[in-house]
Amino acid sequence: MPSLLHLDCSPRPESVSAQITAEFAAAWRGAHPEAPYVHRNLARTPVPHVDAAHVETVCRLETCGTRDLGEARKAGRTLAERRSWRRSWKLIDALLAADVLLIGLPMYHFSVPSVFKAWLDRVTVPPLLIDPKTGLGPLSGTRTVVATARGATYGDCAGGHGEDFHERYVRAAFHALGLADDLVFLHAEMTKAGHVPWLAPFQETARGSLERAVETARAAARR
Ligand SMILES: Cc1cc2nc3c(=O)[nH]c(=O)nc-3n(C[C@H](O)[C@H](O)[C@H](O)COP(=O)(O)O)c2cc1C
Repeated sequence: MPSLLHLDCSPRPESVSAQITAEFAAAWRGAHPEAPYVHRNLARTPVPHVDAAHVETVCRLETCGTRDLGEARKAGRTLAERRSWRRSWKLIDALLAADVLLIGLPMYHFSVPSVFKAWLDRVTVPPLLIDPKTGLGPLSGTRTVVATARGATYGDCAGGHGEDFHERYVRAAFHALGLADDLVFLHAEMTKAGHVPWLAPFQETARGSLERAVETARAAARR
């Protein structure tokens, strides 16, 4: 039975990215009523940043070069390392258990919110990375859907030029984790048109963008 891990990254009750993920999750759960489903809002219950103990453990794994998950799980040596490593592995285990990863990801300053980065820093540990020889890792094959919300627009014809470090960043980070083989982005843009007076002429653009993202999310969930 497939399982869905759903992470949101916006603290706002009226979050646009979370509206899209909620549509995907509802349709997916409708299609898989018995399937395991885990939902966490990383903005409301944040992941602690990596600390010296986590980084030290990662460095040791890099030195010994193990790709064995069981061995890596037990790599913490000192009390502080074991404590911090346990925190990281709770997140890693949830990710390993997921067949589908769904992320609601606002754009913050052309990139990802720090709460997402804190999660990513914890789960990106050596044995989860793809093996450069095969291009495969333990997360290869995980279906990944990223629903974004952006105040402005960053499409090819828009004025965003090369400032979209949001999708590009996630693609690069997820490629390293083997999460880019089946990765789709659903973008809702111009979300600021609702409350910024000079963007008011773009309200229709914003509505259309959100509608398309929601429809694609519903269809993708039933795939
Ligand atoms: C701290 C912060 C930084 C932001 N930076 C950008 C930005 O660089 N580009 C942009 O288009 N919108 C930016 N926005 C607007 C958000 O992307 C937009 O409000 C989006 O709808 C937020 O997602 P949410 O609706 O899921 O909360 C920023 C908003 C915040 C709060």
